[in-house]
Amino acid sequence: MKSVDHSAIVILGASGDLARRKLIPALDSLKQSGRIGENCVVVGSGRKEFSDEEFRSHVDASPAIAPLLHYHAGIPGLKAYLGGLGRFETVIVFFSLPPKVYADTAAALEEEGFGEETRIIVEKPFGYDVESSRELNRRLAEHFPEVNIYRIDHYLAKEAVQNILVFRFANSLFYPTWNSGYIESIQINASEELGVESRGSYFDGAGVLRDMVQNHLMQMLSLMTMEAPVTLESEDIRVQKVNVLKALEVVRFARGQYEGYRSEPMVDPDSTTETYAELELRIRNFRWEGVPVYIRTGKALGRKGTEIGIRFKKLPKLLYNHDGNLEPNRIIFQIQPTTGIVIDHTVKVPGTDRTIAQSQLDFCLSDAFGPPVVEDAYQRLLMDALDGDRTLYVSAQETELAWKVLEEVVNQDELFLYRRGSMPKSALGVDWIDFTGYQSGC
Ligand code: BG6
Repeated sequence: MKSVDHSAIVILGASGDLARRKLIPALDSLKQSGRIGENCVVVGSGRKEFSDEEFRSHVDASPAIAPLLHYHAGIPGLKAYLGGLGRFETVIVFFSLPPKVYADTAAALEEEGFGEETRIIVEKPFGYDVESSRELNRRLAEHFPEVNIYRIDHYLAKEAVQNILVFRFANSLFYPTWNSGYIESIQINASEELGVESRGSYFDGAGVLRDMVQNHLMQMLSLMTMEAPVTLESEDIRVQKVNVLKALEVVRFARGQYEGYRSEPMVDPDSTTETYAELELRIRNFRWEGVPVYIRTGKALGRKGTEIGIRFKKLPKLLYNHDGNLEPNRIIFQIQPTTGIVIDHTVKVPGTDRTIAQSQLDFCLSDAFGPPVVEDAYQRLLMDALDGDRTLYVSAQETELAWKVLEEVVNQDELFLYRRGSMPKSALGVDWIDFTGYQSGC
């Protein structure tokens, strides 16, 4: 188990919701499980004036984390304030701030004297399109080297997402089949039941292409299709993800919006922001040429579930597949809410005739190993940042390339409407795997 001591965790924007709901509870769990030691400090910073005590009560600190918590208003004087609390080998600064102030904040931190010992953690969105993401990366790089910039994509912290590389590269059975010779298509689905709720003002300026596809779904796609890295070091993995993104192109896409979206709070009544998107992409490299990759994601849909389906090629019309109707093999990566992997295959039904049927090999993560030790994405991400491990963080190049792939798609207006709580029929005519059957396993 990784553990750290003599580290400082600074949260900028500490009076906000994220600190109270996610960051402090994550740090609390890390403290309780002994992964952050007694000599660490957590310093909240923000525009509000709090005493340490007021800050502790503002974030509902538990007795375990409370002694580590301090508060300092604003960035000026923060470095000296930290110096008064102790000597820290590592300082991580979490930007719980609106992205538009990231660059100025990085400049202010540098001016304040935060140097090589400092790692900054930023949340998406990293820009709005290719140009703005380049500009943001350029400005951050003026103040902190890329190795000290940690861009969060919380999907990378999901157990089932991390399992993708293990499944692919730790199983001799599947590795040889992972290419256009055997695989017919790859389908990535992320359906959500909730609409935009209270996030209208952010979401209406984004849409699912920016909110989900550019980051989370592109990351899953890269892990699913990248070449084997030379080592498991984060740089070697990033190189391979970058190669996928460089070869990726959108072939077709469709955008949808749920009925009633325009009346949601803080949403423009004439909005053409998409709450649903479906894309066909291709990866122009030797491994994947000719294999379509489909992505579908949306809000206010009829079900909640994130899955990746690998559909293998059909067998020739021989033997058990005389009529051509034999289901091809499928592997379903259940990302959430169920976490596991299902392999669909064909078996003989017991008896004297030759009846065959579909069956499933079912791996359910929690049945196999019990509930995960690290449950919350922020625990994992904060621990990795403290430990200097960037594997689950996204590089500047990855974000820019992902924006580039979507360049032609993000500024479109054309939309179809769908009913809230429904599952729109494929606008691209994709034969989507019925993923509903894969969420009951465990
Ligand atoms: C966030 C998006 O990054 O991911 C949200 O901003 C989305 O709009 C969420 O709902 C989905 O995350 P999860 O972990 O619930 O699938």
